[in-house]
Amino acid sequence: MSDGAGQPPVVIVPEQTNITSGTAVQEKLITAARVFSDLLKPTFGPKGLDKMLYKSNGTTAVTNDGAKIVAELLVKHPAAKMMVSMANSQEENCGDGVTTTMLLCGSLLQEGNNLLKKGLHPLTLVEGFRKSLEIAKQQIILDSRKIDDEKLLAVAETALTGKGTEGALDLFSSIIVESLTSISETQEIPRAENIAMFKSNTGNIHDSKIIHGVAFRRRVLMDSLPNKLSDVKVAVISGDIKIRKMSRTAEIQITSADQLEAFVDAEQDRKNSISQSLIDSGASLVLCGGEIDRDILHNLADNNILAVGELDSSEIHNSASSTGAKVVDSISDIETKDLGFCGSVVWERNEASDMVEDIIRIDGCKKPGLVTIDVGGAGDIATEEIIRGLHDGLRAASLAMEDQEVLPGGGAIHSRIAHAVRISSESEPGRARLAMEAFSRAMETIPGALVENSGNDALDSILELRAATRNQEHFIGIDENGKVSVIDKAWHPRTIITESLQLACETTIGMLRIDQVISSRGD
Ligand SMILES: Nc1ncnc2c1ncn2[C@@H]1O[C@H](COP(=O)(O)OP(=O)(O)OP(=O)(O)O)[C@@H](O)[C@H]1O
Ligand SMILES: [Mg+2]
Repeated sequence: MSDGAGQPPVVIVPEQTNITSGTAVQEKLITAARVFSDLLKPTFGPKGLDKMLYKSNGTTAVTNDGAKIVAELLVKHPAAKMMVSMANSQEENCGDGVTTTMLLCGSLLQEGNNLLKKGLHPLTLVEGFRKSLEIAKQQIILDSRKIDDEKLLAVAETALTGKGTEGALDLFSSIIVESLTSISETQEIPRAENIAMFKSNTGNIHDSKIIHGVAFRRRVLMDSLPNKLSDVKVAVISGDIKIRKMSRTAEIQITSADQLEAFVDAEQDRKNSISQSLIDSGASLVLCGGEIDRDILHNLADNNILAVGELDSSEIHNSASSTGAKVVDSISDIETKDLGFCGSVVWERNEASDMVEDIIRIDGCKKPGLVTIDVGGAGDIATEEIIRGLHDGLRAASLAMEDQEVLPGGGAIHSRIAHAVRISSESEPGRARLAMEAFSRAMETIPGALVENSGNDALDSILELRAATRNQEHFIGIDENGKVSVIDKAWHPRTIITESLQLACETTIGMLRIDQVISSRGD
């Protein structure tokens, strides 16, 4: 009898723990991940449809944006969670290309799973995918094109496509490029964070425009304050504009009428001196993070100075960035050199609505560090989607300015990568060749999904595309009507494509390397 026979087995985990091993593991993970990528597939590309998200708190959103959909889904499955973190990384690093990444990952997993079922070792699969990724990176270098003005506009337009901006693509792409260009004087690489969004809640999307400054909503406290100023010096103060209150309770005994008068006069003098220091600074617009005393406000109005108080910290920061003003803590610190400048400031009150807040627009800043896109339209869920689209466009255009290189969209780059990997796989002697072929097919998911969403037959188009891609002279992909054709209007910054490919591969490899799932919940 061998040692240990007849003894009870050693139990190291609770009874309900379920351990899955072998190919069943990948089956389990990959099915969950596929469900997730299939969910996003119909939203992909110019002909992608939207999802309506109805949240538990009753708010709704209608969106085509991969990142938004992923963020709203309360994903439970561990495999889907891995995809969520992949989507988040893509969104954080690039701001666009989330759906592409999800589709690539889903398809790599499915192709990988088919090979595992045929008996290929997971590590051979990983090796083949790694080799393919290197070939893809070389192809990306070969296919990168230098950016020019036309391509920069196309980058913005490609990222905006399908995000509720149809009919105004030209307008929005030029707004995106102009806004980034106008902050490029103060910043080496203009970033999307320095472009603010403002919903005007009036007109329609065609009324959208760029404000070379900031806009916000606040009640202007006195009607007599000037409502239109030009060539304005701007003071930005983070604290209050009022006389300081005693920090402790104190009692002042007044025994005669003269003393009372002197006390009131002294208080008035202090207010006058605060007003005077603002007037002397030369500012005609005073923006303040705290309260403004009414008497001081009167003095300022008499001197044709507009003062707006109770701004929040981001409004203070944005105003200072766009006008070039230095934020000072209190009025006593203000000096002429701390002032910023703007070409005009206007505030308007919509008497017809019951809005208690006025719209204040600060425009015409010279060399602004921040500009604002004033988005027209009703300010409803459609406007929210446009803002998400603008955000994608801004991030993409900013990356293109940084990279200085772009790659063709419409699935063209992915089908060229597929072609390059397929050609290389032919000289691969080992089993990794199977993985490379699988990688190559997975790349074709991108043009395939574009065709499918436009209602055409994916199989025929992919075969046509494969044949056309052999001719390496032009970039051939799927155009906005779902037809195989030369792509010259859809461009992406290089980083978006490289990053999405890298992330999709890493996540797939991460899942393929798992050999056991140990579930303490028993599922
Ligand atoms: N005018 C166009 N012609 C051809 N293809 C286009 C055009 N505009 C966009 N595309 C393609 O559509 C795809 C982008 O679709 P979409 O914006 O829905 O997904 P994503 O950018 O991957 O993810 P998301 O924007 O949700 O983060 C890209 O492959 C892009 O090249
Ligand atoms: Mg996009």
